[in-house]
Amino acid sequence: MDPWTQIDSAPVPGSDSELTLLQRDDDFAIRISDVQGDLMNSRMYHSEEMLAELGCNRLGTIDNARVLVGGLGMGFTLAAALRIVAASAEVIVAELVPKVVEWNQGPLGLCAGRPIDDERAHIHQGDVIALLKHPEKKFDAILLDVDNGPEAMTASANGWLYTREGLKTIYQKLRPEGIVAIWSVRSDNGFTGKLKKTGFKVRAHTVRARPGKGSRHTIFVAQKPR
Ligand SMILES: C[S@@+](CC[C@H](N)C(=O)[O-])C[C@H]1O[C@@H](n2cnc3c(N)ncnc32)[C@H](O)[C@@H]1O
Repeated sequence: MDPWTQIDSAPVPGSDSELTLLQRDDDFAIRISDVQGDLMNSRMYHSEEMLAELGCNRLGTIDNARVLVGGLGMGFTLAAALRIVAASAEVIVAELVPKVVEWNQGPLGLCAGRPIDDERAHIHQGDVIALLKHPEKKFDAILLDVDNGPEAMTASANGWLYTREGLKTIYQKLRPEGIVAIWSVRSDNGFTGKLKKTGFKVRAHTVRARPGKGSRHTIFVAQKPR
């Protein structure tokens, strides 16, 4: 098998980290400096799709549903959300690293079927936290996959998302019965408890990296009551 070749890199705004895009034959990987392994790999995306399925499963028949995805990565979560929601839905994707959006406009975007070209998809090039703090829009689903779990990794400012204040803000940004789904490399009972204390009904799902096989990841699914 050919070795991985680095084809581009990009600084992560607001941090000292850098993302690199690598290619091997038709496969792509995104890595982050100082972290072992891939942040994303185009051959393993089942849990990224499950994030959307578990977060959006009630939205197929809801008119004008609004979904927030953070971040874009390789677009698998976005593509899965678009497969579920209706024609009238709006799916906003926040991506912190401008080059990730650029990469998705090129060959990398083909991995998930170029979901950014869907007319229901709207890219916000910037921090998902800025959208969450913006008072205007409310969402039926918020799908978060910006770190490896409920602690900052890509950028230190992401830590806010998992604090009581961050979770309260997310709660307020959801419409009644809205769901926040959070991808994590591991389970975390303390975080489940924190979500419950915020007022959510919570379930932590174990999902596999590939259908029926591969590493086990956790998706926290937290629903706001009616
Ligand atoms: C693991 S990848 C997401 C993978 C994605 N679920 C998929 O299906 O391909 C994490 C992404 O979140 C982005 N990101 C990290 N922090 C962010 C933030 N605060 N706001 C928006 N995007 C962020 C990263 O640049 C990266 O593209």
